[in-house]
Amino acid sequence: MGEVAAELQKYNRQASLAELEIKNLKEKLADLPNYLNSNCNNYGDSSELGKLITENVKLKHRLAILNRAIAERSTKATSNSSSSMECIQEVLYNLFSQAINAAFPDLPDPPVIIALAGNNPKFGDYQCNSAMPIANLYKQMGTKIGPRDIANKIVPEVPSSQMIEKLEVAGAGFINIFLNKSYAIEALSTVLKNGVQPPYCQKQRVLVDFSSPNIAKEMHVGHLRSTIIGESVCRLLEYLGHDVIRINHVGDWGTQFGMLIAHLQDKFPDYLQKSPPIGDLQAFYKESKKRFDEDEEFKKRAYSCVVKLQAHEPTYIQAWQLICDVSRKEFQKIYDHLDIKLTERGESFYQSHMERIVKELDEKGFLEEDEGRKILWGEEKGTGIPMTIIKSDGGFTYDTSDIAAIKQRLEEENANWLVYVTDLGQATHFQTLFKCAERVGILDYKKHRVDHVGFGVVLGEDKKKFKTRSGDTVRLSDLLEEGLRRALDKLKEKERDKVLTLEELRQAQESVAYGCIKYADLSHNRNHEYVFSFDKMLEDKGNTAVYLLYAYTRIRSIARTANYTPEKVMELSKSVSISLEHEKEWKLGKVLLRFPDVLSKITKDLCLHHLCEYVYEIATTFTEFYDSCYCIEKDSSGDIVKVNDDRILLTEVTALIMSKCFDILGLKPVSKM
Ligand code: ARG
Repeated sequence: MGEVAAELQKYNRQASLAELEIKNLKEKLADLPNYLNSNCNNYGDSSELGKLITENVKLKHRLAILNRAIAERSTKATSNSSSSMECIQEVLYNLFSQAINAAFPDLPDPPVIIALAGNNPKFGDYQCNSAMPIANLYKQMGTKIGPRDIANKIVPEVPSSQMIEKLEVAGAGFINIFLNKSYAIEALSTVLKNGVQPPYCQKQRVLVDFSSPNIAKEMHVGHLRSTIIGESVCRLLEYLGHDVIRINHVGDWGTQFGMLIAHLQDKFPDYLQKSPPIGDLQAFYKESKKRFDEDEEFKKRAYSCVVKLQAHEPTYIQAWQLICDVSRKEFQKIYDHLDIKLTERGESFYQSHMERIVKELDEKGFLEEDEGRKILWGEEKGTGIPMTIIKSDGGFTYDTSDIAAIKQRLEEENANWLVYVTDLGQATHFQTLFKCAERVGILDYKKHRVDHVGFGVVLGEDKKKFKTRSGDTVRLSDLLEEGLRRALDKLKEKERDKVLTLEELRQAQESVAYGCIKYADLSHNRNHEYVFSFDKMLEDKGNTAVYLLYAYTRIRSIARTANYTPEKVMELSKSVSISLEHEKEWKLGKVLLRFPDVLSKITKDLCLHHLCEYVYEIATTFTEFYDSCYCIEKDSSGDIVKVNDDRILLTEVTALIMSKCFDILGLKPVSKM
């Protein structure tokens, strides 16, 4: 195993280098016409032109070799992992990439397009749709060759693979790919043998900044979205084997602390001796804000409190800590209910980092004066918007803490991938942050990946901003409370209270309440706004948590009906093989095989709704299978006469993969519902 790992690592390194080189080569190739224009407008200068043409051919050749190296890496990487299912679409991509490069070595970067085939089994399971765009490329180059001919040239170059049963050229030049059933059975069996193992991927150190509410201000539904999405992103990345750091970047260091501390001193003068009984921090915030706006004297004192706090005067630090603690306890209740794990590292953590980086940026001449403030441009001056690094009163800003944090995360924390989960309203802030960090040499895209995972606003059922009837912001604790109440109503409506014990009912209630809130959020494309509606999320039809949790419980109960214990199912898998003969078995099997590809896709765009759509597809395809394939056969009196073990195994794989999806989505199925 050690050898295999070392070999793999070697391939990965080579391929990463190749990827970089390809990027450079592509840039060079793209620039060639310009170069020709400016250097060879004198057509008499044929020696220069000739040189460039030779150079061009050489570059293309090198590019083809590198492309092949990359393709080979992935095939190696995946074929070594027979203990888990492979990313079929990725393997096919690599096989066809090799084939296309071999068939058309004169094309520098031919398109490799692998898609899932439609529902008609006649057209195979996957398709390679590269022939049409390749024909177009040739047309542009002045060569006429039809897409069908191109497809026919590609097919014989596809390396043989256990995955592929046969290839067929069809229609205008599509290559239909038929999967091999024995391969599929083998792949699905690994799930019974080893559990649902993640596909191979190169391990990264990822820091995910999510939830991140502001102390003393309310934690609103926007923070709830960040919390739910961030948690799922972490769960996915952890499952894939990455080293994940979950950071709660709470707003705990703003000027608002001045007025809060001043108000605390007045209201609870003995706060140093006795912990102040602030029951409602939001009301406390409102009171102090009112005084701040109306009372000049108070305002002055609030400012002096900020200065003393930032100078770390002990009693002020203590007051600040007391206030943070009240907030922290409130946040923690929400995290506990929703099973969210986070490490708090708020803005205050970066105070000394901010001082250092500001000095450094100033010394290096990156900062610019602008009406008393100091700003930092990400791009050329005048394009985009700059970050405000020092305010005109000398204070730091949200921008300052983020530039300090990105440096700390990449250089001290040694993360090579940063993810920020906030509303889309902050998209420009993060784009500017990334540009600035790149310009000043903190962020290097050759070594680092950064993502702003944005999301749309949460709307009420009236399609307006999510508010209570009286127009106040909805408190998260009230929202969860209502979820619990509504979930219980739903269970009672289905008369589940008549069959479940009190404890089972409580578990089902929590599973449904928290599950439906999370799932409703995750199943919507995060880039769109989303309408929060308990009625919709508690529906038991369609792509909802309730439907899926029920579907899962039903699937789980099949083996139980046959009196099969989980141990017996495991035992069975050693002697019986899964059946994929029936059309509906084969259809379900192919959906299950897509699991690694779905994860791989989400790793690229960090959109979890793909996983929701996928798990919903599993559930509906399972229903089709179950409707036409008997797992357990009973006689007229309801006695079991036959159990189809091979189908019980397919059922088991379905349950295992669904359960893994639930895990990533933060859903907790219960055994009885
Ligand atoms: N506290 C901020 C807010 O409520 C979110 C912080 C996000 N993280 C960051 N590094 N800026 O909007």
